Amino acid sequence: MNIRYLIVWAIGCVFTVTSTAQTRVITELKDNWKFYRGKSDQASQTAFDDKRWQTVSVPHDWAIYGPFDKEIDKQKVAITQNNEKVATEKTGRTGSLPYIGEGWYRKQFSLPHFKKGQKAILLFEGAMSEPRVFVNGQKVGEWNYGYNYFYFDITDRIVATQNNVLAVHLTNIGESSRWYPGAGLYRNVSIIVKNSESIDQWGTYITTPLVTDHLAKVNIKTKVTGNNMRLVTDILDATGKRVASDTTATVFGNEFEQNIAVVNPQRWSPETPNLYRAVSRLYVGSELKDEVVTTFGIRTISYRPETGFQLNGTTRKFKGVCLHHDLGPLGAAINVAALRRQLTILKDLGCDAIRSSHNMPSREQLELADEMGFMFLAESFDEWAKPKVKNGYARFFAHDAEKDLVNLIKATRNHPSIVLWSSGNEVPDQWGAEGVKRAKWLQDIFHREDPTRPVTVGMDQVKAVMQSGFGALLDIPGLNYRTHLYDEAYNTFPQGLLLGSETASTVSSRGIYKFPVEKASEKQYPDNQSSSYDLEFCSWSNLPEDDFVLQDDKPWVIGEFVWTGFDYLGEPTPYDDKWPSRSSYFGLNDLAGLPKDRYYLYRSRWNTKASTLHILPHWNWQGREGQVTPVFVYTSYDSAELFINGKSMGVQKKRSNETPQHRYRLMWMNVKYEPGTVKVIAFGKDGKPAEEKAIITSGKPYTLKLEADRTQLTAGGDDIAFVTVSIVDKNGNLCPTAAEQLNFAVKGKGTYRAACNGDATSLEQFHLPTMKTFSGKLVVLVQTTNDAGNIELTVSGKGLQSGKVSLQSVKK
Ligand code: GAL
Repeated sequence: MNIRYLIVWAIGCVFTVTSTAQTRVITELKDNWKFYRGKSDQASQTAFDDKRWQTVSVPHDWAIYGPFDKEIDKQKVAITQNNEKVATEKTGRTGSLPYIGEGWYRKQFSLPHFKKGQKAILLFEGAMSEPRVFVNGQKVGEWNYGYNYFYFDITDRIVATQNNVLAVHLTNIGESSRWYPGAGLYRNVSIIVKNSESIDQWGTYITTPLVTDHLAKVNIKTKVTGNNMRLVTDILDATGKRVASDTTATVFGNEFEQNIAVVNPQRWSPETPNLYRAVSRLYVGSELKDEVVTTFGIRTISYRPETGFQLNGTTRKFKGVCLHHDLGPLGAAINVAALRRQLTILKDLGCDAIRSSHNMPSREQLELADEMGFMFLAESFDEWAKPKVKNGYARFFAHDAEKDLVNLIKATRNHPSIVLWSSGNEVPDQWGAEGVKRAKWLQDIFHREDPTRPVTVGMDQVKAVMQSGFGALLDIPGLNYRTHLYDEAYNTFPQGLLLGSETASTVSSRGIYKFPVEKASEKQYPDNQSSSYDLEFCSWSNLPEDDFVLQDDKPWVIGEFVWTGFDYLGEPTPYDDKWPSRSSYFGLNDLAGLPKDRYYLYRSRWNTKASTLHILPHWNWQGREGQVTPVFVYTSYDSAELFINGKSMGVQKKRSNETPQHRYRLMWMNVKYEPGTVKVIAFGKDGKPAEEKAIITSGKPYTLKLEADRTQLTAGGDDIAFVTVSIVDKNGNLCPTAAEQLNFAVKGKGTYRAACNGDATSLEQFHLPTMKTFSGKLVVLVQTTNDAGNIELTVSGKGLQSGKVSLQSVKK
């Protein structure tokens, strides 16, 4: 049990400690949960014997351990969004992992600090799904939507000092998702004990209605319970220095409102993720009753036809990616180290925005976005009243949609990273008059709860929404694909701007190249892989450059969110009906987080701080000697010369008078393969050589190269190092086709957590300490234990020199 005391001394080093009273205590329920996968009539009861149940830590995803099985959630459907007319058998649609069924979690907890007259709030940050929650044998509530934040007041259900029993029942039914949803208590659970006179859950709402270089007006609304109270709010800058303070005793209903001036505000943006903290202290007389610390940012946003999207008064276009919530080999179980690694990779990409498709983003992800600098398009639903899958959210929409939106907004609205809400993705309600009303209703709820941010919907039925008024009523019209309709939609809609809410959906497998090299829709190959020449897409989607052209040539297009930043479990298009295939091909990075070639195509545009010079394909094509093997270069330079074994293949220049690909890629289409060296020399604006890169035909697999993303970890059992393992030849060159079975052993104060090779067709279980490399690589996840100390990972494989990496786990 992890207890966070939110008391004055926590920030006491910053300014004078006025009281040592203990206000609220947050207990995270992490360890020693008992878990059972199945039905149980008695498990909600306090006296139930759960000794033989599995002991687990939360966040926990019960399905990620597999095994993969094509029969799980096999769906015989025609996916109408994908233009399918005939039902076919879809095997990997939800990841082929055992998420379906019932599960029980039980946890004993005591609250020794709980005093009579205090309140206890039980907070879930998501539970997959349909949680029914019991405390000491009594039902305290339920919440259907697996992605949302919710809480219950359990004050009347707990017994102060002795063991209390929390039991949570979860149900996942088949055909309830279009991707892998995960299963279980996959996000944090905590109990907040506070005084009866206190700040309400999610009761603080901070906005910055006026921001200039010299002054920011910080508006803080604070909902409270109690009488005769006084609220003191201090604003601290990033260094912890108090920069402003305000006291008020005027309550409007149950809400205090303060306008606090911050001089010379340090604005938040992706490039300058400056954060402030508001410390709200609630007093009755001189007694401190409650204290809440809220992180916020000072920034302005605006969306106008004349200036497009502006952040802090500067027009910019979203360089965004869509992300599903799973973390590859960790499944849906939230993990800060894994999220941080994703965002670190996205920073290098030059990405500045994330769309949480198609549901509520986690607290951890938003905190990291605030801290590392990413704008957020926070989405709520993939379905409204009309279903996409037989048992999807449409079952709950009428009853739950409003409360789901309210919780999303209240739980997340102080994050400066959120700059736009989305009420839905490609909802079939785009058709028909009822859908128009629903769009208005949902948008009005957003406006009521948060008037500071506009609302979009990712629309794919563009003709329908142009006619019905659905698109016209939205604050920001978002188009998913349909690049050929951008002009028409812009001319039809009144808003004067368009967002590429979802773009590209190009498919590829890391390190796999197919010949001949040609543009193709829904292309399938016998190995269930897609070509990394990045010319394959779906019937509804397009190649990256179709979006680049719109982004570059139309001032009224305010940015794009590429489908997707990382591969995710489930939706293995274009192999939805082929086995084995259980994860997506859409990512710029694969499921292991390793960049595919497409990553560099976006990087060459988005990363304006560093140059990009990337060659594809690899150069190990034994058997293709003399055959045409095109070479592409993704680069931030405009032109380059290619050499094969020292022989020039000519200069290529980006040019806009041919296909969109010629405008953004350098392509040598007629290169004939001969083993050796592929070298590219890129030219700067002055026409002189500026940078060069080479790849060579590698020799036989010889040894293993291990590279950890971080070698200093934090002890405690949560932190994870991601170690990339590459098979290299005697000279250290990557063997790009190597598929070798490797074994993993971890010694010291760490454990082996999982491995992933990014192969969408692999049925190897992530948590077993062995896996085959895919295109010469895989990633091993090493997790800390409670104790600090050294950790050593050894990776071995038959006929290969082993590799080792040392990590240090230190106490916080
Ligand atoms: C979109 C949809 C996404 C995903 C994607 C695949 O239409 O919004 O969830 O299915 O297609 O291309």
